[in-house]
Amino acid sequence: MRRIYLDYTATTPMDKRVVQAMTPFFTDTFGNASSIHSFGREAKAALETARESIASLIGARPSEFFFTSGGTESDNSALTGIAIAHSGSGRKHIVISSIEHHAVLHAAKNLEQKGFDVTLLPVDGHGFVSPDELRKAVSARTLLVSIIHANNEIGSTQELKTLASVVHSAGAFFHTDAVQSFGKIPFSVAESDIDLASFTAHKIYGPKGIGALYVRRGIEFEPTFHGGSQERNRRPGTESVPLAVGFAKAAELSVQEMPEELDRLNSLNRLLRKRIGDEIGGAIFNSPGDRALPNILSVSIDSSEIEIDGEALIINMDLEGIAVTSGSACSSGSLQPSHVIKALGRDDRTTKATVRFSFGRFTSEEDVQFAADSFIRLVNRIGKRKKIISLSS
Ligand SMILES: Cc1ncc(COP(=O)(O)O)c(C=O)c1O
Repeated sequence: MRRIYLDYTATTPMDKRVVQAMTPFFTDTFGNASSIHSFGREAKAALETARESIASLIGARPSEFFFTSGGTESDNSALTGIAIAHSGSGRKHIVISSIEHHAVLHAAKNLEQKGFDVTLLPVDGHGFVSPDELRKAVSARTLLVSIIHANNEIGSTQELKTLASVVHSAGAFFHTDAVQSFGKIPFSVAESDIDLASFTAHKIYGPKGIGALYVRRGIEFEPTFHGGSQERNRRPGTESVPLAVGFAKAAELSVQEMPEELDRLNSLNRLLRKRIGDEIGGAIFNSPGDRALPNILSVSIDSSEIEIDGEALIINMDLEGIAVTSGSACSSGSLQPSHVIKALGRDDRTTKATVRFSFGRFTSEEDVQFAADSFIRLVNRIGKRKKIISLSS
């Protein structure tokens, strides 16, 4: 059976060029980057080359970021590392958007239990944070604001520079989760005036198990783990050189190929949106038409027009060989309606009837047409269209 993977937001297949770049660092250049002998020095050199490359791609100095195990660790470390380091400052207020990934949402909830006040900032019906709402939310008590750059369920992207100026005028730190945006749309910590930013490699055709956290030079920061002095005392543990090399290669390729890829993915997105919009009355697009990632299209079926079980829809698409999801991979299997789709103002039933298509480097137009055919056919087959009672008849 033909199988089509349209869940690139959950993870991506590794690019073979990345695997090739990593391979010698498993077997040949295998030293511990902290050892002072030649094997260690070789490994260290590769690690630092990878660090310099990523730093230049995000507009940072190499000393300003450290490698982590992925986006979840970076997000947790960002929130907790700032909260603990500045706990004596009297600032006990954290602001996050209502469409954060669980890694930020749950880290903030954990800090709430430890005495911090957490404000959830609403978004508009397209998933955008308003700078005016942010201005109203921050105060002289605010320590940290964390707002996701590109949302992983709907793809809406935020105007980071404008939001950063609001955060900084309140004297707070600004963290962004750039896990989904980096390598897909332009991103620079310098241009956006960001204090902390989270990244991961496996969303950009790199290996799983490595990410990074940028912390602007001079910001006091408490490490999450304690041990050796690796990563300038910010993240102890033997560094994984092959993963760092793979992350750097994946980042270089993604940034180099971004202009053509942006055009190609945008046109696939428009094609899918048009097919679904034209052929399913009652489809609501959660992903905004602009200021959005090119590779995500989230669609809900309006419960006032069609009764449909979203899970059944996804399972049936899987039976036809098409891998899509309702939202974040972390909440798949949970019966809770997505907090992101709900934040857009959708009712629970519409929220549950949501499908997220996400595509990438290896998706063809034929794949998208095939998925559109399946989705449209299944909505018509499984969904029960509600009868419209005309008052004039
Ligand atoms: C926006 C966002 N933040 C954080 C994460 C977590 O990243 P990782 O899977 O590398 O821990 C994800 C992954 O789904 C994500 O989409």
